[in-house]
Amino acid sequence: MNLLDNARNLLTNFLSGGKIGSMPTAEGAVSDPFGQPQPLFFSLYDWFLEHGSVYKLAFGPKAFVVVSDPIVARHVLRENAFSYDKGVLADILEPIMGKGLIPADLETWKQRRRVIAPGFHALYLEAMAKVFTDCSERTMLKFEKLLEEECSKGGGTIELDLEAEFSNLALDIIGLGVFNYDFGSVTKESPVIKAVYGTLFEAEHRSTFYIPYWKIPLAKWLVPRQRKFQSDLKVINDCLDGLIINAKETREETDVEKLQQRDYLNLKDASLLRFLVDMRGADADDRQLRDDLMTMLIAGHETTASVLTWAVFLLAQHPSKMKKAQAEIDLVLGQERTTFESVKKLVYLRLIVVESLRLYPQPPLLIRRSLRSDCLPGGYKGDKNGYVIPPGTDIFISVYNLHRSPYYWDKPDEFEPERFLEQKESQGIEGWAGFDPSRSPGALYPNEVISDFAFLPFGGGPRKCVGDQFALMESTIALAMLLQKFDIELQGSPDSVELVTGATIHTKNGLWCRLKKRPNVH
Ligand code: HEM
Repeated sequence: MNLLDNARNLLTNFLSGGKIGSMPTAEGAVSDPFGQPQPLFFSLYDWFLEHGSVYKLAFGPKAFVVVSDPIVARHVLRENAFSYDKGVLADILEPIMGKGLIPADLETWKQRRRVIAPGFHALYLEAMAKVFTDCSERTMLKFEKLLEEECSKGGGTIELDLEAEFSNLALDIIGLGVFNYDFGSVTKESPVIKAVYGTLFEAEHRSTFYIPYWKIPLAKWLVPRQRKFQSDLKVINDCLDGLIINAKETREETDVEKLQQRDYLNLKDASLLRFLVDMRGADADDRQLRDDLMTMLIAGHETTASVLTWAVFLLAQHPSKMKKAQAEIDLVLGQERTTFESVKKLVYLRLIVVESLRLYPQPPLLIRRSLRSDCLPGGYKGDKNGYVIPPGTDIFISVYNLHRSPYYWDKPDEFEPERFLEQKESQGIEGWAGFDPSRSPGALYPNEVISDFAFLPFGGGPRKCVGDQFALMESTIALAMLLQKFDIELQGSPDSVELVTGATIHTKNGLWCRLKKRPNVH
């Protein structure tokens, strides 16, 4: 920041009377952030109801601004997006993702986003529908085999931790879809799979600690957990390097028009890596490519597994909605496999996926840090004037609060997939006209634009998730194939499924469920 910027910031703060100081403060938050008796995002919700849509949260000497309002979220994420970077999140993820899209500096981000986003084109997604179906089928076959074994012993049900199973499924899908590597984790264990889980574990641990303990000199060599993390990273990086070398050796340079003539559905390798290597003008050094792949591996794995976990958790508590979904699946699919086309007809199932994302957004918080002073817009519930924030302010946009805001949603805590179809002024932000799947061919799923930032499961603005359509289709297909074959019940009470958070919301001890083959299913 230059002198002029500094002077301008000081002046703005002076003229505003240091308005951040007048922001309501969550006093209770001064307590130990690591000793929270409940996940942080629950407390942020209570303070939102108490202090309003924009408040300050103090962790000792450190303060965060917590935003739970769609207009302010839209301002930070879209209208003034380049006045913010990823702050704490980039600190945590940079050692893992390097210059991948999530932690990248602005210059690198601009360059790589331009290259990567087009990789998720319609033909690619169509080819991916087959990958999602193949991988889901592998999981269902595994369950069927376990059930058969159980039946031969006289039982009729199996008990499984579906969260762990979804994690394996999502890992297989992301490996094949992004770099054409079959982890095969549904059926086996390997050093690479163990390394991926080890890395995820460490990334999650870091995201729950505010102090960057991994930056302490020599820690990475002296602390055993940090040494393991370094060796896990090496295993994955070696694997990715091998895949990149292979993709480059078999490069077929092409451009967009030629690419569209490719018979995508019959390509042996339709992966994103193939696209990134083959596209003319998309040259990147091997290190950058590796960072890109690692970012997508981490960003696209646990998030999708969590959506599936919470969708099943919710459906198991609402048997009539599970039956309604199964009736739709029977009508659209019968005993057939899912396809790109059938996803378009699975309207109710798609709404189940988005309603699960509304109630359990992944991640529950979006993190930003202001690069220069900014004026947050006013006029929202709780404050009419807006606040000026100085450079270096850390902001949490609480997607969880937005998605359960009593100001924008009827019965916000209830699982009601049908809500997205209702045309009510009180639903979502003013002017929300409901989601009409038959009139929105371009948008199969409700999104942040339709809801004017009251619903933002994939963020919004220039840093919005690149894999949103990939993830939504993947979740819809996996859920369809599961419900096509099985009836599902929770093994214990819903309360016994405790929540914990790191980067995503997950269960404390797994999502233990009882699965039974549906009648008349072969
Ligand atoms: C960014 C959610 C799946 C790749 C994001 C962001 C969210 C999100 C909220 C924005 C973060 C921010 O603004 O700070 C999700 C959810 C998913 C999912 C809920 C699953 C249901 C995927 C998949 C991929 C992916 C499957 C890749 C194949 C990325 C990347 C970014 C991102 C690369 C960074 C984009 C940028 O900064 O330009 N995701 N994601 N995500 N996501 Fe996803």
